[in-house]
Amino acid sequence: MTQQKPSISLLFEPKTVAVIGASATPGKIGYQVVKNIQDGGYEGTIVPINPKGGEVLGLESYKSLEDFPGDIDLATMVIPAKFVLDSVKACAKKGVKFLSIITSGFSEVGNVEEELEIVRIAHENGMRILGPNIFGLYSGGVSLNATFGPSDINKGGVSIITQSGALGIAMIGKTKVENIGLSSIISVGNKCDIDEADLLEYLIDDDETKVILMYIEGIKNGERLVPVLKRATTKKPVVAIKSGRSKRGAMAAASHTGSLAGADEVFDFVMKQCGVHRAENLQEAMNWCKYLSEVPMPKGENVVIVTNGGGVGVLCADACEKHDVTLYDDQAALKEAFSGSVPSFGSTKNPVDITGGASMDDYMAAIEAAYANDDIHSIIVLGCETAVLTGGTLTEYIGKIFERHGYEKPIVYSFVGGSEFEDSAGVLRDQGVPMFPELYDAVSCMGVLYADYRRRGMGEEAIAEPERKPVDAERINEIATAVKADGRSFLLANEGLEVMKAAKIPMPVSLISHTMDQAVAYAEKIGYPVVMKVVSNEIVHKSDAGGVALNLENADEVIDAYQAIMHNCRNYNPDAKITGIEVVEMVKKGTETIIGARIDPGFGRTIMFGLGGIYVEVMKDVAFRSWPVDNHEALAMIKDIKSYPLLLGVRGEEQRDIDGVVDVLLKVGAILESCDLITDIEINPLVAYEQGEGVKAVDVRILLKKD
Ligand code: ACO
Repeated sequence: MTQQKPSISLLFEPKTVAVIGASATPGKIGYQVVKNIQDGGYEGTIVPINPKGGEVLGLESYKSLEDFPGDIDLATMVIPAKFVLDSVKACAKKGVKFLSIITSGFSEVGNVEEELEIVRIAHENGMRILGPNIFGLYSGGVSLNATFGPSDINKGGVSIITQSGALGIAMIGKTKVENIGLSSIISVGNKCDIDEADLLEYLIDDDETKVILMYIEGIKNGERLVPVLKRATTKKPVVAIKSGRSKRGAMAAASHTGSLAGADEVFDFVMKQCGVHRAENLQEAMNWCKYLSEVPMPKGENVVIVTNGGGVGVLCADACEKHDVTLYDDQAALKEAFSGSVPSFGSTKNPVDITGGASMDDYMAAIEAAYANDDIHSIIVLGCETAVLTGGTLTEYIGKIFERHGYEKPIVYSFVGGSEFEDSAGVLRDQGVPMFPELYDAVSCMGVLYADYRRRGMGEEAIAEPERKPVDAERINEIATAVKADGRSFLLANEGLEVMKAAKIPMPVSLISHTMDQAVAYAEKIGYPVVMKVVSNEIVHKSDAGGVALNLENADEVIDAYQAIMHNCRNYNPDAKITGIEVVEMVKKGTETIIGARIDPGFGRTIMFGLGGIYVEVMKDVAFRSWPVDNHEALAMIKDIKSYPLLLGVRGEEQRDIDGVVDVLLKVGAILESCDLITDIEINPLVAYEQGEGVKAVDVRILLKKD
């Protein structure tokens, strides 16, 4: 029976830490872990466990856990894989609360059964497992470095959760180089039990943690992670780097951690939905984390660029547009703010250009003016090396102004010049000035700050549980259960139509005929033109079988089509049982879209939207979201596709019925949620007509779980 889980805070703030496999031999991991715990200044009790007994780094070791008289909150395991299972049982017996298994040799190399057994024992005994296959964890709050990584870690405001051990250790080194302080770093490895969601639960409310950085290779339980991430980003910035963008990368990641790297596009969209900043590379992630952990929230959206060079000013304006940084645009106010510092041949428009000929005093006056003006909320300072702005003046003047004002408001600097000039910029960076050699990096930091500012502004709205569109869940389950009972894991056209009806999704009128006369009667009833399609369990690809006839204009054409379909299908598969021939209203032309809902292996229920035809097939122009979403998010998803302007109407066309598309997206998600048997729903095409004229689901494919 599963026992109640201990509070995750005990993992970060243990009072007693055991090291199982503590060794007196320098060079062994069991030695390094004990040394790191000691050197890091941990003030709790350290309990070395070694069957031989004796001393480890001056501490008396115990031959077994049982020999230690007190409680153990966290045990770090550094013994060979073959001894781990027995040792886990001993930990369970002792009542250990958290176990950090550094040892490799489990699911990442195919040893899945043993890993599952370890988790089973842990859960039966109220114990939680970090790892296996990890470097351990560092928790700054209690100065605990229970890793075999570097012993020298700067304390600060960034917490790192990493799936890769080696990269995690490298990141500790990198944070030191970049002068970034850590509040914690946790290696999750195979994530057999504790995953990102568990750790975020603690970090969201941890006052020491200002920014959370996650390195992810694959998502295992996205349905649990997504709500926690959404909550986290309303409180503090979360930055993610994920490997596996390329197919090759995804394969490497899969073999590296033993977990499948989630489809990258889905990951990208879901992170955006959660308000997570996805970095392209490690350097970008480090830049963002450092900046976000130091800078205050801006008081508004007005950003001003101060520059001595028009070219870099324009480049910067482009970068601002790319990163959604809003440039202050009130020309009169800008003139008033900067006319005292900008020479007559410069420009007070934004970018504020003091020009290369201006003196250093003018430069400083312009920056001072930007700090002093309450309507200016953030500043980007750019500089090109000139006869006036040299390496020497740069360190002197910029150093002074940052010393005077620092982060009174968000500010970034980027200066371009020769080696002496760049060296001076480097000196300033080492002094803590947010100075970037590349202006795109400076602007991207400002961009994530503003994305965060907007996210914070959403407050509760960002985490509110969306209302669901009502669908007839009982009817949907009845249909799916009957299909399963029939031994199928796909729905026939008429069954798909019934599901659409149960969700009130508009479909073309359709009737199943069993005789030629009936087909003609139905066609007359529906109104010409009509489409006819074979209905047979054994014929899934109807067009290939010659089982579809389009654009039938009168009774004679219906009779001919009926005979042709019967003939073609009998030839195609003589054993196929033909249940009937479907007579369907031929829908008018409109904009073809595609809507899907499916169980993603990483994120669970997800929905998809795109435009049909070449847009989805060639350009893969589709957007995804984790389910559930509200109206607002469904609309944001539709706007995410590159071909969105086509829905707004081009070349004099009217806007399409976007509300109708949103409605179907929300209903498709609700269908998936209403029935555990359904794994995939795809409406292709969903034809969208002009605003107010609705949409029509022309074809639907629904798949069920395979046994
Ligand atoms: N309880 C307590 N101590 C035990 C037990 C036990 N049941 N069994 C053995 N020990 C002791 C040993 O006697 C030894 O102590 P000693 O030095 O006094 O003799 C100590 O535990 C370690 O045992 P060794 O057999 O010496 O094992 P070794 O240190 O060579 O390897 C290790 C153990 C490091 C856990 C190894 O099996 C392993 O998994 N290495 C990979 C770790 C790793 O890379 N993890 C991923 C990190 S992330 C990244 O990629 C960097």
